[in-house]
Amino acid sequence: MSKGIVDLILHILKSPSGKSKKQEITLPEEPRAITPQHVAIIMDGNGRWATKRHLPRGAGHRAGVEALHNIVEAAPQEGIQYLTVYAFSTENWGRPKDEVDGLMDLFWDSFNRYLESLRAEGVRIRHFGRLQELRPDIQQGISNAVETTKNNSRLNLNVCLNYGGRAEILDAIRAVIASGVPSDRVTEEMITAHMYSHDIPDPDLIIRTAGEMRLSNFLVWQSAYSEYYSTPTLFPDFDRNELVVALNSFAQRKRKFGKIGPEHANMAYLAKDTEARAKSEISRS
Ligand code: FPP
Repeated sequence: MSKGIVDLILHILKSPSGKSKKQEITLPEEPRAITPQHVAIIMDGNGRWATKRHLPRGAGHRAGVEALHNIVEAAPQEGIQYLTVYAFSTENWGRPKDEVDGLMDLFWDSFNRYLESLRAEGVRIRHFGRLQELRPDIQQGISNAVETTKNNSRLNLNVCLNYGGRAEILDAIRAVIASGVPSDRVTEEMITAHMYSHDIPDPDLIIRTAGEMRLSNFLVWQSAYSEYYSTPTLFPDFDRNELVVALNSFAQRKRKFGKIGPEHANMAYLAKDTEARAKSEISRS
């Protein structure tokens, strides 16, 4: 099937009427109590989306790029400051060569096609992953996107491409060792300082589409206290409404970071306060 025909079918399938079965979600009138500062997305299900429509897998990836563009537009409107997306893992090289080549062509095309609109929308693009192992034209496309958008701050978009969480930790540890720090002086902060994400907060919320409940080597170091959200929706169908549902779910979570919840903290404070008062009564009497 030619790319033109596939794109046309894709357009029809993605048009609002093609989505009529989907229930619209009413956006809350009040602002959410808590919005995650940093949202990360494992964009899964492009292949299944295409297969369900008897289309080649590449059509699913192209639909995924469109979905991503919509999410990038919606994210700052929803109060998100950092958006990190998993586009291609260090393990994805093991896919059939024609799929890998198709994905690389798509990345190159997307970086060029959307760069001007992303720049105008105030998006700062950064790359997480081993750049030098990518095709030279893609390296150049990424470097150009990073350079062109470096002064933007409305939304920080981190694209994980040839990214692996373990590889990132390994590279960081190697860099710390190379700097001459003795092993018993190595700290978590030193390792964090060598992460791609060294100057941004850890993800508050990690969303995975297509129903899987795995981290798949994504942000292994940074996700220690992230909240997870999994939706059966395939990534090409993941839209602003779906994002809002995930954000609302996050707003209900009670994050304790290994400590105790504020309600208990309050009780602990009262207990301490009562004890202190009792002690002072005794000393006065
Ligand atoms: C996983 O779906 C998706 C990918 C490996 C590629 C994700 C890439 C995009 C959405 C494009 C992003 C583009 C840019 C420019 C950042 P899958 O193929 O594993 O789906 P399946 O599990 O249903 O087979």
